[in-house]
Formats: sequence, structure tokens, C-alpha cells
Amino acid sequence: MNAKIRIRGLTKTFATGATRVQALAGIDLDVQDNEFITFVGASGCGKSTLLRAIGGLEYVDSGSLSASGREVAGPGADRAMVFQHYSLYPWLSVMENIRWCRRLAVHTRDRTLADVEAASGRADALLQLMGLGHARDAYPNQLSGGMQQRVAIARALMPKPEILLMDEPFGALDAQTREVMHDLIRHVHKVEKTTIVFVTHDVEEAIYLGNRIVLMAPRPGRIAQIYDVPLPDARRQDMKHGQDFLALKKEILARIRETSGMKTDFDLLEQLNQPAG
Ligand SMILES: Nc1ncnc2c1ncn2[C@@H]1O[C@H](COP(=O)(O)OP(=O)(O)O)[C@@H](O)[C@H]1O
Ligand SMILES: [Mg+2]
Repeated sequence: MNAKIRIRGLTKTFATGATRVQALAGIDLDVQDNEFITFVGASGCGKSTLLRAIGGLEYVDSGSLSASGREVAGPGADRAMVFQHYSLYPWLSVMENIRWCRRLAVHTRDRTLADVEAASGRADALLQLMGLGHARDAYPNQLSGGMQQRVAIARALMPKPEILLMDEPFGALDAQTREVMHDLIRHVHKVEKTTIVFVTHDVEEAIYLGNRIVLMAPRPGRIAQIYDVPLPDARRQDMKHGQDFLALKKEILARIRETSGMKTDFDLLEQLNQPAG
């Protein structure tokens, strides 16, 4: 079967003045249909650059990249993105924010208002799926961060994207809200059958959400390793305390520390903490 996302030999270098940063060096990867794949790695290892390239928001230097069977030449309706900052329209209600993309379509193509009304059935369904039924007429500034991010996800799902690209979407949320969002997005993945590519710097989040984890390393940005997550599809929070989970977390954290060049000299720290004598 063909991969949902197919990446071969992808490279990208940023040049600012005299400095050149190789953000992506020869990335090869296949993401399968309805897979939930997570990316972790030290800051600056190219996670966002790769995600943006898949989203068609970043030019690459060489290599090939296809999504949903077509070569990526720019953004497309098959791919939707969710970022850390929710970027809702503050002057629109929750429901209006979710339906906004359909309204745009009316003005740009031969769609009638009746098409938009038909789409509102989906908007209602998404509202329920995200647990926002009671907030449909609220405005973004009346909602908590977690609720705003749910609206942003519902809006991204509105045009039925085949691929959902998420860049540290829960990074600004508190730990409790984040756990709720984790179970919610796993549920969305199951119900909507979306292929999800999820970038995070949080190893626990990467394991809990992913079917596979891609570990990236910096300078140059590359794939260091790919891990299969030894958990069943139906996730439960208590799995985070399981032996397999903890062992994988420990291994990945060690690899990130090793590749980040930010190794802490624990002996030196110890000496600094010794009382002077
Ligand atoms: N627009 C840009 N201009 C110059 N350098 C950039 C740009 N975007 C990213 N970079 C550099 O490319 C590298 C990878 O960045 P990024 O993909 O944002 O990493 P990550 O998301 O893993 O933290 C970093 O060294 C970063 O500084
Ligand atoms: Mg990033």
C-alpha cells in the first residue's frame, strides 16, 4: 500500500548572512494512513521545519515529498495545521470560528449558502466531539486556553483533512488540561480516521500519543531513530507508569541529551554544591 506521506532525501538549509544552518539533512520517512506519528528531539533539530514542509509552508532544497498521493507543492485541503498559538478570530463566536473556512469557500468558489448550511451539521458534530456544545456562542476571550485549542482543532478538522499536522499544540496548556487534550486527540484520531503528525519536545507526550516516535537530532537536522510504541491503541493515563513506558521514556531522554550537545556535567554540579571548607 502507498504511504500517506512519503519523504525521500529531503534537505533544507537556512542561510542568514554568513551563517548556514542545515535544518534537514536527507530525511527519509513513510507515514502510513491513519497512523499517529510523533516527533521529538532537542530544540533546533528541524521538527517544525519538517512539519511545515509537509504542510507546504516551507520550500525545500532537494528531495521529494508527497502527501495523500500527490507531490506537495504548497498548502492543500488534504492537510490541516494546528499550532501552539490558537489564532482564533476574536470577533467570531466559537461556532463562527469553526465554520469560517466554509464561508471563505463560498466567496472563492461556486458554492451556495445552502452548501454552507449543510456543512453546519458537521460543525455541530465537531462541537460535540470536542465537548464544546455549551460554548457554541461564546467568544474566544471568554474561554480557557484548553477550550480555545479545542476550537482550533475543530476548525482544522472542519474540511475533513486526511492529514492533521500539529506543532506543539498543547505546549501552552497546564499539565491537567494537557492530559485531557491527549485523550481527546486520541479519540479524534480514532473517530475521524485522520493521519496525525504531532511534534512535541515532551517525551512523555510523544509516547502516550504515538504509534511510532521519530527521534530527531540537530546539526544537521536528521532522524536519529524510530521507535514503535509498545502500547495498545486504547490508551489510559495509568499506562504512563508501566515498565515499558518508563523504559522507553528513559532511553529517549538519554538519546536527546546525548545528541543535543547540552550534556550536563553532574560531577561539576556536585562540586559546586559542596559547602566550602
Ligand atoms: N526561517 C528561518 N531562518 C533561519 N533559520 C531558521 C529558520 N527557521 C528555522 N531555522 C533554524 O533551523 C533549525 C531548525 O529549526 P526548527 O525546525 O524550528 O527546529 P525545532 O522545531 O526542532 O526546534 C534551527 O537551527 C533554527 O534556528
Ligand atoms: Mg519547533
